[in-house]
Amino acid sequence: MSLPLSRRGFCTGLAALPLARPAFAGPAELAAMPASVQLAPEGYPATGVWSYGGSVPGPLIRAPQGTRMARRLENRLDVPTSVHWHGLRIDNAMDGVAGLTQDAVPPGGSFDYAFALPDAGTYWYHAHANSMEQVARGLSGALVVDEPSPPDIDRDELLMIDDWLIDPETGQLADGFASPMARSHGGRLGNLAGVNGRWDFALEAKQHERLRLRLVNAANARIFVLRLDGLAGWTVALDGMPLETPEPVTAEIVLAPAQRADLIVDVTAQDGVPAGLLMQAGQDGWKTLAGVRVTGRLAARPREAPAPLPPNPRMDRPVLDGVRSLAMPLQGGAMRGLESARFEGAELDVGALAARGQYWALAGQAGPGADPFARLSLDEAVRLRFGNATVFPHAMHLHGMHFRVVARDGSQGPMRDTVLVLPGESTEIALVADNPGKWLLHCHMLGHAASGMTTWIEVA
Ligand code: C2O
Ligand code: CU
Repeated sequence: MSLPLSRRGFCTGLAALPLARPAFAGPAELAAMPASVQLAPEGYPATGVWSYGGSVPGPLIRAPQGTRMARRLENRLDVPTSVHWHGLRIDNAMDGVAGLTQDAVPPGGSFDYAFALPDAGTYWYHAHANSMEQVARGLSGALVVDEPSPPDIDRDELLMIDDWLIDPETGQLADGFASPMARSHGGRLGNLAGVNGRWDFALEAKQHERLRLRLVNAANARIFVLRLDGLAGWTVALDGMPLETPEPVTAEIVLAPAQRADLIVDVTAQDGVPAGLLMQAGQDGWKTLAGVRVTGRLAARPREAPAPLPPNPRMDRPVLDGVRSLAMPLQGGAMRGLESARFEGAELDVGALAARGQYWALAGQAGPGADPFARLSLDEAVRLRFGNATVFPHAMHLHGMHFRVVARDGSQGPMRDTVLVLPGESTEIALVADNPGKWLLHCHMLGHAASGMTTWIEVA
């Protein structure tokens, strides 16, 4: 069904994506640079950040599926940096991991990224050199790859969810990016949550309008627990990859750092009734993360359930009989200190590890070793079991390839690039190693990644 013109572009919010035929958008150059943006509520000064092109989040980049993208990173910071294109099944040389797939770009330098976009979906980009600090300072943005024709919706909205740790006295980002306390516990958690750089983000909508909400969790460490209020809908994609069947949203949506969820929602609230996306906020209960202000009504009744999004290529479930099975215990952290782990080639005890800022380990190894955790042959199917022996949750992310969570009964869940592994849980994933190169595998609580929870695999 084609969209009536009168619906298109109605009350377009700041991040509204036009529903016209897929097109390219975003600047040709990504300049990593200091900037000053109004993150905190009025009355506070603007906050000094590191940004792409002067805004937080950085510019929305979008391109049609099946095309190629080229972006030059210009480093106008006084520290080295790089850009990782999170969730793309990308050429390894373009993956942006400083120290593994490229050298960090020095201040004043530049790097030309160019790669194919085989998959439609919601992705994001962020710094991948000292990312614990650089992402917290603002170096991230969203990347949308459009299906050849959009689903039947009235509006397409990108919601980049983040939390900032702001000093309430000064309105500036709190220091302590490398704080041992945060790194050995739950990570750097902010005190001001927001969407698209605004703590008071809101959309305008009409009753029975149908929105596609692309949620991206860009926070350093916060797991967002979300609920729809005055909206009813379906999850249609996770981590960029379409679900075979849209899944009605009947419970909370849990979005771990780096995870994405594409929802198609209908506005059920009537004119004047507050609606939106709520977040669980500790003892404060539920609070509005993204408001939806409803005025008027678009149609007399809601529409039928949406059709699934078209599948991306290479989404077949791997056959798992007789494949290799790898085990990766997640170890360390406060309350479960490591006895010892290998770090830079030597076995170190917990004191020596802490002196080097290392509090965690993956299968006995703190930080990426000279050798990969595993060497896989091209197109090999493999199972990998994360056993969380810590008292903290971890958002385990694999670069370059998506995987599926394998349930106890052997069934395989949706394709993802980041999976939340809760304390005491053991979570098995399966993947086909169909992308050659050196791929990072790490916790996306970025303080954990920087203090032991980073390793890599090699696909030859
Ligand atoms: Cu989103 Cu290694 O990154
Ligand atoms: Cu972690």
